[in-house]
Amino acid sequence: MSDEYLSVRKKEHLEICSTDQAAFKYKTNGFEHYDFIHCADTEVEIEKIDLETFFFSKKISYPFLISCMTGGTDKANNINLELAHAAKQLNIPLGLGSIRYAIEEGGKYDNLIEIRNIADNVPLLGNIGAAQVINKENHKKLEKIIENVQLDAMVIHLNPLQEILQKEGEPYFNGLNKSIEKFVRKTEIPVIVKEVGSGISKQTAERLLNTGIKGIDVAGSGGTSWAAVEIIRNKKNHSEFWDWGLPTSYCIREIASLRRKHNFLLIGSGGINSAFDAAKSLALGSNISASARIVLQKLNEAGTEGVIALVNEWFEEVKKIMFLTGVANLKEFNKKKLILKKDLH
Ligand SMILES: Cc1cc2nc3c(=O)[nH]c(=O)nc-3n(C[C@H](O)[C@H](O)[C@H](O)COP(=O)(O)O)c2cc1C
Repeated sequence: MSDEYLSVRKKEHLEICSTDQAAFKYKTNGFEHYDFIHCADTEVEIEKIDLETFFFSKKISYPFLISCMTGGTDKANNINLELAHAAKQLNIPLGLGSIRYAIEEGGKYDNLIEIRNIADNVPLLGNIGAAQVINKENHKKLEKIIENVQLDAMVIHLNPLQEILQKEGEPYFNGLNKSIEKFVRKTEIPVIVKEVGSGISKQTAERLLNTGIKGIDVAGSGGTSWAAVEIIRNKKNHSEFWDWGLPTSYCIREIASLRRKHNFLLIGSGGINSAFDAAKSLALGSNISASARIVLQKLNEAGTEGVIALVNEWFEEVKKIMFLTGVANLKEFNKKKLILKKDLH
């Protein structure tokens, strides 16, 4: 694929996602069906609530990750540099957008080293599409980038819906799980698999975990619809696929139950657009919540400082929620602190 073509596509993605036009129309993340169980006799000392957690071996200040977005063009690099400043100040992980451009013919990645230098010691996540992992010739190139940029984890994104709707899409995933397994065996850093807004079912999660991956980011439905992004790019108004996918809350609940058999990091994302969404994702069983489009929009509107303020404000709210549900730490937070609203009446 030509550089010029790729950069036009990325520009369009950024433009569309800077507005709300690619949101799901009718499907939600499902969190509105849940309420927190109020604890009238809370004895929690709010200033002692501990939100620190681990992203694999690194300690982070909030259970929050800036989801993988963009890269590979000047504008995209600037966005990543600004996000790196925010991640560094907040001491939270930063996901990079697809680094496909860096493994293609003559690919350069000085920009990734620059981002790493700014992000300093916070976890930095590489990102690559499933199709690129199926091509085993790419594994060595990815290894080199992992080493040179000192990436902390590699995220493989699954986006069959986007590929099937994209004019120039490549919906070919034969051999996917075997290829992931091979990649996992070779690489020394943890591998995470994510969707991009259609969610991951329990059955898919189980197959993926059997390949040896160490993390799953559900990236469920209810936030950004990548079908919508491509439908808008195709200059069509509507398609039944606009709202395709499994809601974020459903994916978290289902996949969290696999902890009985597997040890893995569960990231709850897809339409996490408020402190309450982030808190409900954690209370349903994720280790970390994550957001993409709302972070991009905040960056456009108020810069790095705006992103820092947003995340700080959200987690001040999360602390209040923990106080009101009677829990002082994240471990306790996902133990029966939510109730389905239908059970309240
Ligand atoms: C502008 C933009 C670019 C994105 N690019 C990527 C990407 O390169 N790789 C990826 O795995 N996900 C990508 N995503 C998907 C997000 O990581 C996320 O899974 C999805 O947008 C759902 O989260 P949200 O509802 O908080 O936006 C992108 C999202 C946005 C908004």
